[in-house]
Amino acid sequence: MVFKRMKIEEWFDSYQYEVDYDIGESGVKFLKFSSLNLDLGDLPLRYGHHRGSPELRELIAQDYEDFSPDQIAVTNGASEANFAVIASLVGPSDHVIVEHPNYPSLYEVPKSLNRRTHLLHLSFEEKFKPNLEKLESLITPQTKLIILTHPNNPTGSMITEKMLYAIIKIVEKHNVYLLLDETYRELSFNKPLPPAATLSPHAISITSMSKVYGLPGIRIGWVAADKSIIERVRAVREQLTICNCVISEEIAKTVLRRKQEFLKDIKQKVAINYEILESWMRNQEDLEWVPPEGGVVCFPMLRVEVPTDDLCRILVKKYRTFVVPGYCFEMSRHLRIGFGGETSELRRGLSNMNKALKEIKI
Ligand SMILES: Cc1ncc(COP(=O)(O)O)c(C=O)c1O
Repeated sequence: MVFKRMKIEEWFDSYQYEVDYDIGESGVKFLKFSSLNLDLGDLPLRYGHHRGSPELRELIAQDYEDFSPDQIAVTNGASEANFAVIASLVGPSDHVIVEHPNYPSLYEVPKSLNRRTHLLHLSFEEKFKPNLEKLESLITPQTKLIILTHPNNPTGSMITEKMLYAIIKIVEKHNVYLLLDETYRELSFNKPLPPAATLSPHAISITSMSKVYGLPGIRIGWVAADKSIIERVRAVREQLTICNCVISEEIAKTVLRRKQEFLKDIKQKVAINYEILESWMRNQEDLEWVPPEGGVVCFPMLRVEVPTDDLCRILVKKYRTFVVPGYCFEMSRHLRIGFGGETSELRRGLSNMNKALKEIKI
């Protein structure tokens, strides 16, 4: 078992603190603690409940039709949730199918655990939507888990509700599990999909407060699933982190109690930014894209067959502008642009991109 660093996290860890214009981040602008007016007084700094605070799980469960808090496990970000589900469900002789491109840990974790991992490639031509015939053809008697992310990171693609129901049918027919990473679900441009876990005991929904609420620093995410899966997740997480940070849980509760108010504001800002990005892309001669349908990232590609590595390095080094090169997702002709941040940073970042595009040889 060998865990290697992910290229995307190496890129973030190297450059995210030395730029002025961050148009690579996959979440909305970070909230500041002071904006929450939260007085934690004499909060006991003890270990938390191992599945997460009961009050927090109660708040979360309200969003999942007919769910009880026992079907929720709060974790240290979606990262821990994904790890715990994969590690607890997929045994040494099992097989996993993972959509690609995707947030890399979703395929790096099973690979690092030496689980047989097959990538289901999404293509530009198919608008980065999974081909369900291809998906079904990859299932073998050893397949245990199918992992998808929609709205997708890095492409922003969405499956339709009809496709989601078809996928549920496939997993039930073949007696396998579906892990749907729903980290960006609340930022769907149109009506969000129903959480997969509410549709079948074979489906597991994962989400996070990092991206939609701008709270990656509190490390809060969760699994929503059948109770038997929650118990397996608890067993893994007790060996990793035992519980969540109790201060983070208080922050999460504060935000989720006022969820609609936060979301309204966030969605308005994202819509303004998206218009700016969309109009910039319309005038782009060097890049083409599949417009995203949710989330706050898109994955344009250079019209010519050239990697974006140089472009992204020039942007960081010369223009103090942060985007994510496609090689971080093994698709080197692409780059990820995020539009969840400050509008002024987006405008300036895109204008810097125009300059950098002129400087690379394409
Ligand atoms: C699809 C997806 N899942 C999980 C994560 C990890 O998020 P968290 O900060 O909640 O661990 C990310 C981060 O980019 C992501 O894009």
